[in-house]
Amino acid sequence: MSKMWSGRFREPLDPAFESWQRSFPCDARLLPQEVAASKAHAQAIAAAGILTETELVKMLEGLDRVIPLAIEEAAKVAKPASEDAGLDAYLPTIIALNSQAEDIHHFVELQLTKLIGDLALKLHTGRSRNEQIATDMRLFVRDAIDDTLSGLLDWREALVELAQASGDAVMPSYTHLQRAEPVMVTHWLLAYVAMLERDSTRLMDARNRLNLCPLGSGPIAGATLALDRTIASDALGFDGPTPNSMDATSDRDFALEFTQALSVLGLHISRFAEELTLHSTAEFGFLDLPERFSTGSSAMPQKKNPDLTELIRGKSGRLQGAALTLATIVKGLPLAYNKDLQEGQEPVFDAADTIAGILSVLPGFTRALRFRADVMKAAAEKGYLNAMAAAQYLTYKGVPFRKAHEKVGQAVRLGLETGRELNDLTLDELRGFGEEFGEDFFDSITLEATLDCHDVVGGTARSRVKDALEGASRRIATDRHSLASKKSAKLALERVPVV
Ligand code: ARG
Repeated sequence: MSKMWSGRFREPLDPAFESWQRSFPCDARLLPQEVAASKAHAQAIAAAGILTETELVKMLEGLDRVIPLAIEEAAKVAKPASEDAGLDAYLPTIIALNSQAEDIHHFVELQLTKLIGDLALKLHTGRSRNEQIATDMRLFVRDAIDDTLSGLLDWREALVELAQASGDAVMPSYTHLQRAEPVMVTHWLLAYVAMLERDSTRLMDARNRLNLCPLGSGPIAGATLALDRTIASDALGFDGPTPNSMDATSDRDFALEFTQALSVLGLHISRFAEELTLHSTAEFGFLDLPERFSTGSSAMPQKKNPDLTELIRGKSGRLQGAALTLATIVKGLPLAYNKDLQEGQEPVFDAADTIAGILSVLPGFTRALRFRADVMKAAAEKGYLNAMAAAQYLTYKGVPFRKAHEKVGQAVRLGLETGRELNDLTLDELRGFGEEFGEDFFDSITLEATLDCHDVVGGTARSRVKDALEGASRRIATDRHSLASKKSAKLALERVPVV
């Protein structure tokens, strides 16, 4: 009985169709999730009287041996490069050795049969692959969210450290990519931290919603056994069983929320990557690219290229693709399970791998960044970036803002024509545009005053930025704490207890 469904068929499968429809080459990576979910289900059916206590123990021991056995078999054929390689390193060999396995569910059943004989065939009592894949994918996405959250924390911390190291450095800010007003370098870095904090809460929200257990849903209408669904749910660290079997076996919104949250995160990351790429050009000259994260040109000896940020910009495109692919696959699917859903796994895996890759290099790159504070400051002091502060000065003298804007505009024009900044103009010249200009004008347009006049929550005044930086560090500590408590739930999952 090599197939899971051979009884009603008389003809063998067309060989091309058979190999083409298999999902094992892709879903083999769900092996840990499938084993954990199988152990949880074994406990539920034991409680329902399908397995005796002895059978349950044998079944759980067998399930614990499934991964070691697969690794042993693979190691006989091909040793991975490193001695302490984990399951991932063996997966290609495991896949190659098991061409008879249709999918991960079939594979585990075949292995378990090798280990404990026909008792293995009792495991499928009261369950369906439709609920299994929905469960495995929820477990996978839950771990991928936790890994992403922890990578994001690391990157947030790197950005905050870079901000702390940048002290009171200033830079020009840009709108339309034209110099606008001076800002603290920290203020600019914290803009990204703010984006990442929202990305983290989006992922956390998705995690909270997905954390329900489909096991017990059967293929569509619910298990045909009176299962206590809380047993599997508790064993797998879910908050409870899903409320509707048709929904649970066929909806993939938890995966969509994950890929879509990564799509937004990818867009944020690509903006950072683009800015750094730009800032490292000779034209901007705001930073020296760290050599450890740059490459040269095989043709032009002088080059140091921003490959890391460019590649990240490109990888963020894959994240957009994954979200769109999955949405397109699930669009218009009638209730409940449809085989199309099998095709929805790859974009989820690709998105998880892509973000893991990006976050494996981005914090280190960020920590290695060194700004050229002098170049940034010079750029912030040239080009009338204090014009708005100048107009504000006039409004404090009672001039309506529209008129103040006009008068400072005329001063800027004079500056442009004579090659001078606003602070190089004489008081007499300024008075020609408005008698409200006084001696104190020059103090109100220094670089410091130009920063400090933005004294609002969220503004770039130095004291506000200092508070914002402290807030960002505090939130990293709180988020680390709450993620650590989630991770301990994951560890509990690895030791599913015998009830
Ligand atoms: N490999 C399948 C998937 O990934 C498992 C569920 C198959 N269910 C079925 N009725 N054919 O979706």
